[in-house]
Amino acid sequence: MIDIHSHILPGIDDGPSTLEESVEMGRLYAEAGFSRVVATPHWVPGTAWMPGRDAVERGVVALNAVLAKKQIGVRVYAGMEIAMDAGLGKLFVQGRLPGLAGSSYLLIEAPFQQMPAGWEQVFLKLKGKGCGVILAHPERCGQLAADPAMFDAVVEAGVFLQVNYDSFLGGYGRQAADTAFYLAGRGYAHCLATDSHDTAYRYPGRVQKAREAVEKAVGDEAADVMARVNPGRVLAGKGLHAPTPVTEKRRRKIPWWRRVMGYGG
Ligand SMILES: [Fe+2]
Repeated sequence: MIDIHSHILPGIDDGPSTLEESVEMGRLYAEAGFSRVVATPHWVPGTAWMPGRDAVERGVVALNAVLAKKQIGVRVYAGMEIAMDAGLGKLFVQGRLPGLAGSSYLLIEAPFQQMPAGWEQVFLKLKGKGCGVILAHPERCGQLAADPAMFDAVVEAGVFLQVNYDSFLGGYGRQAADTAFYLAGRGYAHCLATDSHDTAYRYPGRVQKAREAVEKAVGDEAADVMARVNPGRVLAGKGLHAPTPVTEKRRRKIPWWRRVMGYGG
């Protein structure tokens, strides 16, 4: 498997503080069945979290060297999780925002409360510059979760959505769980990712359980597109597939009270 969202690099953001912990995360990734992981440290304009591309690339080279030496079968690639901001188009032109693993896909962090005014223009600008825009964990954005119809506009704007595995297990609360299942059912959860930060709380260990919940809700084929096919296409710089939405017929088979609770199966 491939993870397109991970805070595995040490000493850059709120991920691990030591290289040892990063290596341990690499081991947990291998154990969970991952072979490729994109390191996506936070990049938040106007804060201490604005790592240069070279710092991220150096971190990736150093971590890969240790992983290879310890014969841990995981390879790390460079990327960033870029906070949503009105000035992103300009920053991209300046070459400050790297794509995921050298691709043209940018991972943009969904705000936790409101989408900024003019978000449509920001995405339009980035897309106009040849970027693929992937919005990270939109199920955790309060405004979007409270008004799921907004997701139609986001997806119609050509934005791809990345949902966190742990959201399906309630790791970010009930609203995020309901929204994650809603997005999966609509065929809007283009990619699943771990958003791992450490070795104990936000780590790759619960992926299998989350995947089973997704498979139960949307079927094996759509789950495979979200978990394996599309992350692979991100790394290859190819267009992403839209996972098949859950049909009304299948939705009807799920008892109404489970649908209301957001648990599909
Ligand atoms: Fe993240």
